[in-house]
Amino acid sequence: MPARRPAAVIVLAAGEGTRMKSRTSKVLHELCGRSMLGHVLAAAGALEPERLVVVVGHRREQVIAHLEEMELTPRPEPVVQERQGGTGHAVRMALEQAWGEEKGELCGTVVVTNGDHPLLRGETLAELVRVHEDEGNAVTVLTTEMPDATGYGRVLREEDGAVAAIVEHKDATEAQRAVREINVGMYAFDGALLADALKQVTTDNAKGEEYLTDVVGILRGHGHRAGAFLTPDWVETQGVNDRVQLAQARRQLNDRLLEGHMRAGVTIVDPATTWVDVQVTAEPDVVVHPGTQLRGRTHLGEGAEVGPGCTLTNTRVGAGATVVNAVCVDAEVGPEASVGPYAYLRPGTRLARKSKIGTYVETKNADVGEGSKVPHLTYVGDAEIGAGSNIGAACVFVNYDGVSKHRSVVGDHVKVGSDNMIVAPVTIGDGAYTAAGSVIVQDVPPGAMAVARGRQRNIEGWVERKRAGTPAAEAARRAAERAAAVGDRRAADGLEDESGDGDGDR
Ligand code: UD1
Ligand code: CA
Repeated sequence: MPARRPAAVIVLAAGEGTRMKSRTSKVLHELCGRSMLGHVLAAAGALEPERLVVVVGHRREQVIAHLEEMELTPRPEPVVQERQGGTGHAVRMALEQAWGEEKGELCGTVVVTNGDHPLLRGETLAELVRVHEDEGNAVTVLTTEMPDATGYGRVLREEDGAVAAIVEHKDATEAQRAVREINVGMYAFDGALLADALKQVTTDNAKGEEYLTDVVGILRGHGHRAGAFLTPDWVETQGVNDRVQLAQARRQLNDRLLEGHMRAGVTIVDPATTWVDVQVTAEPDVVVHPGTQLRGRTHLGEGAEVGPGCTLTNTRVGAGATVVNAVCVDAEVGPEASVGPYAYLRPGTRLARKSKIGTYVETKNADVGEGSKVPHLTYVGDAEIGAGSNIGAACVFVNYDGVSKHRSVVGDHVKVGSDNMIVAPVTIGDGAYTAAGSVIVQDVPPGAMAVARGRQRNIEGWVERKRAGTPAAEAARRAAERAAAVGDRRAADGLEDESGDGDGDR
């Protein structure tokens, strides 16, 4: 994206973040599938800087571990600020530790940004750099006009529009506080001039800290140009200091992501109850119904319909598939497959084209072949089901013997009867059937009918003898009377029992 790559981006993330009231570092709090710091680094990464330096302090072990997990180019380099001596001190530490003796080589543009502005887009930072280099400034400050500027540093301008200085809210006079243009906390500097000016920053202010913002006035004093890039989108520049602002930022980022999907041809029926992560992708003509969360690297293929009430994490949904009221994690739903309502697809589930997972069905490490159906009340764990097979209602793939997990295989065009226990490891061959209520513990050859259940035995008259006087016994007696009356009538009419169901085999 950038015409000129900055020499470095320095991200300030050493602060305590007291107002989050959290054991987790403020910058690690998450929105739309990424930490706040992750969003800032993604925006910084869009500039393709030669180095990406992150100043850490409070809860640094967490932040450093988080940085190590990130896949970013260039790799973010943590620099430790032992005591939080202010934003100027933080940048000074960054320069001393990351460049050290080579500071002489620090030429070109250095961008500095706060670590708690997750909404800021890479495009805006790139624009800041462009303005900075086009105007040949020593420093260019990203500014905006906030509806409520309380707490922010105010930008004081010269008559010719150049920036004269930034005064912190706490140090500002009443007249200065009336200024609505604020310092967002993002800057482009000439690296060499920044390093020099930082040496002159004092702690002579309300907070007793080294303010990075003082560099602006110092550079001006040396006759250098200080400019500003005023962005009209103040929403994007908002910082997050507490969980109320975190929720607001999440809402705004979510709206931005949804808008992008809608403009690309995705129908979002109810943006207010649809939540997406940054890495979610969707093809045109996808429809997302209310109450749906799309997380991680979830992908929705063309024309797929998802929701209402779905939470999909790292799940691929094929073209034309439907997923209703389902929780899916690390799963793959094939094209035109159908899932739910009320299904739980756990990791390793792979549903082939036109297959069906119905209501109250849970799957895990399961391959379901093309056109196969698991419609009702079933658990399929560690199994492979071929094409065109049907699993009856209420079956369990019994995969766990208490010590290890085992896998079962069901072939093509198999009909597993209702209420079967398929005790792994077991294989049911192509075209085989199993009887309802079977406990399948042995392989079933292709084309066989497996019957694996107790034979039924009826003890006639048991209820009238053993439960005499109960409503059941009374009902049985009445039924017997009716049967006897029918028998008498038939005998009178000279008819025998010809219904043909007196199956001698039973
Ligand atoms: C700062 C700016 C202010 C601006 C505002 C925008 C200064 C002096 N003021 O104020 O003009 O309007 O940001 O949000 O810079 N940090 C460190 N080490 C430190 C101190 C801070 O790494 O010793 C980090 C914090 O983690 C944070 C960022 O720097 O990410 C800003 O620090 P903070 O104390 O929040 O500055 P503000 O008072 O908000
Ligand atoms: Ca702040």
